[in-house]
Amino acid sequence: MRRIIVAILIAAIAAAWWVTAPTTLTAKELPDITPDPVAGERIFWAGGCASCHATPVDGERARGDGKLRLGGGMELDSPYGVFRAPNISPHADGIGGWSMLDFANAMQRGVSPDGRHYYPSFPYTSYAKADPADILHLKAYLDTLPAIAGRVADHSLAFPWSLRRGLGAWKRLYLDATPVIPAGTSNALVEQGRQLVEGLGHCGECHTERDLLGGLRADRWLAGAPSLEGEGRVPGITSAGKNVGSWSDDDIAYYLETGFTPEFDAVGGNMVAVQENMARLTAEDRQAIAAYLKSL
Ligand code: HEC
Ligand code: HEC
Repeated sequence: MRRIIVAILIAAIAAAWWVTAPTTLTAKELPDITPDPVAGERIFWAGGCASCHATPVDGERARGDGKLRLGGGMELDSPYGVFRAPNISPHADGIGGWSMLDFANAMQRGVSPDGRHYYPSFPYTSYAKADPADILHLKAYLDTLPAIAGRVADHSLAFPWSLRRGLGAWKRLYLDATPVIPAGTSNALVEQGRQLVEGLGHCGECHTERDLLGGLRADRWLAGAPSLEGEGRVPGITSAGKNVGSWSDDDIAYYLETGFTPEFDAVGGNMVAVQENMARLTAEDRQAIAAYLKSL
C-alpha cells in the first residue's frame, strides 16, 4: 500500500513538473526576415513599452525623449505585491546580450533566456498574438536606443506568488496566440486593427474584466473592467460602449490622436500614456483600431 501511495505521489509531482515546464520557440520557428528598426519603431509605440520600462524622472512618468531611456524602475502595484519593470535597454544590465530568439521567447512565450517564466504583469499574453516578424523588427529598434547601466531591484511579492514555476500552469490556460474574437471578416483594415488591439496594444489588459484566476474573459472582451488604479471603472470600448458606441470611426481615431472626445473632454487616468503612444502611430493605424472596435 505504502509503495502505491509513493508511486502516485511521484506521478503527481512529475505531472505537476511537466504541466509547469516552460515551452519555447526554436530558432527554426523565427520568421526569415531582415529586422528593420524603422518598422520596429512603430511596434514600440503600438506596444507601449515605454509606459512601463522608461525610467521615471523625479518620481514622475518619463516624457518626450525620456521615453527612450528604458532603464526600468517603475513600480506596478497589484493584489499580489509590487512588480518592478526591469531594464530592457541594450546594456549588459538590460537585454544587451540577448539574441533575437531570447527576445522572441520573452515576448511571445513569457520565458526568460535562463528558462524561467515571466509574470503576466509583463503583458506577453497579448504580445503572443502579434505578428512574429513585428517582434524581430521591435528588437532591431530597441538595439538603437540608449544603453543604460543599472539593474532594478527584484519584485516584492507575497508567497506563493513569489514562486515562478507555478506560472507554467497558468500559462497553459491563458497563453494563446490565436485571435480573441475569431476572424469572421476579410476586411483588411479590421484585421490591421485586430493586430494592434488584441496583440501589441494590449488594450484588453485594462478594458476587459478578469476571471478568478486573473485571466482575461473572452466573453466580456473590451466590455469594461474595474480600474487597476483602484477607483471607478475602465469604460467599455466596443460598439456597445457608452461613449464608443455613439462615436464615429473618425471620433475614435481623433481621440487616439489628440486625447479629446467629441465633447472636448480630455483623456484621463492611465489612458493618457496609451493615447500619447497612439498619437505616434499613422493615421491609418488609428483608423484600423477604430474599425476593429466598431466591428465588435
Ligand atoms: C504593463 C507594464 C509593461 C509593459 C507595457 C511592458 N512590459 Fe516588459 N515587463 C514588465 C514587467 C513587470 C516585467 C518583469 C516580468 C517578470 O519579472 O516576470 C517585464 C519584463 C520584460 C522583459 C524581460 C526582461 C528581463 O530582464 O528578463 C522584456 C524583454 C520586456 N519586458 C520587454 C518589453 C517590451 C519590448 C515591451 C513593449 C512591446 C514591454 N516589455 C511592455 C512590464 C511591462
Ligand atoms: C493601462 C490601462 C489601459 C490600456 C492598456 C488601454 N486603456 Fe483605453 N482607457 C483606459 C482608461 C482608464 C480610460 C478612461 C479614460 C478617462 O477616464 O478619461 C480609457 C479610455 C479609452 C477610450 C475612451 C472610452 C470612453 O468611453 O471615454 C478609448 C476609445 C480607449 N480607451 C481605447 C483604448 C485602446 C484602443 C487601447 C489599446 C491600444 C487602450 N484603450 C488601452 C485605460 C487603458
